[in-house]
Amino acid sequence: MSHAAGHRLPSFFDPLSDGVVALRRFTEDDIPTLAACLQDPEIPRWTRVPTPYAEQDAREYLAGGEEAWQAGEEAGLAIVEARSGELVGAVGLVYIEWEDERAEIGYWVAARARRAGVATRAVRLLARWAFAELGLFRLEILPDAENQASLAVARACGFREEGVLRANTLIKGRRGDNVVFSLLASDPAALELLGRGDEPPGKPAAGGAVTGQASRRPRR
Ligand SMILES: CC(C)(COP(=O)(O)OP(=O)(O)OC[C@H]1O[C@@H](n2cnc3c(N)ncnc32)[C@H](O)[C@@H]1OP(=O)(O)O)[C@@H](O)C(=O)NCCC(=O)NCCS
Repeated sequence: MSHAAGHRLPSFFDPLSDGVVALRRFTEDDIPTLAACLQDPEIPRWTRVPTPYAEQDAREYLAGGEEAWQAGEEAGLAIVEARSGELVGAVGLVYIEWEDERAEIGYWVAARARRAGVATRAVRLLARWAFAELGLFRLEILPDAENQASLAVARACGFREEGVLRANTLIKGRRGDNVVFSLLASDPAALELLGRGDEPPGKPAAGGAVTGQASRRPRR
């Protein structure tokens, strides 16, 4: 893969799968499902996803995601069930800092698909790609200190807790502290993802066209 500075995301993204969930780029066909999933108040509560949320918001989200992908700033991906292809969430690299080989990960999962390991699987697939294919070294997750589900995802993926950024975000009028989690390419959990463990994710058939972006995380 060859990349110009600031444009280091591949123009073609080969979907990633672990056999249970798959990550692919968004297409315009995802707009109605995306809008339906984002009616759940739990998603805008913790992210910059707007509320109320209409199909037009989903259209803009996809357009913005395509621009950010082209600019090498964000890699937003749809999470789908591997077997049915049903869209169940979004995960992405946001605030990619190529010079520092660092990015932040954001995600949401549709209410009906939660508590089944979807976010954990998606973050693992994305992290593996980010380390192995993009050459990033440090990945961060910054859950709100009160977002128990997101804190649990970061822990389940082997990210290490580093500290708390106080009053780091202002989301829907509420100031939130963020817990800083990181996973380095040299950490044992990352080495396991990279194939020196039990569960290396596989790669299914190609697909995907237009891109989108994952849950927006505030810049620190
Ligand atoms: C956070 C979110 C993506 C988790 O998705 P998910 O697919 O249900 O997560 P998983 O099933 O992979 O769960 C991972 C871990 O979190 C735990 N968990 C999940 N939801 C939880 C909850 N509400 N409270 C406590 N723990 C929870 C699971 O038990 C699991 O831990 P384990 O591996 O030790 O058993 C989902 O709740 C969501 O979309 N929330 C709203 C948007 C959001 O908060 N995004 C993140 C912003 S930082």
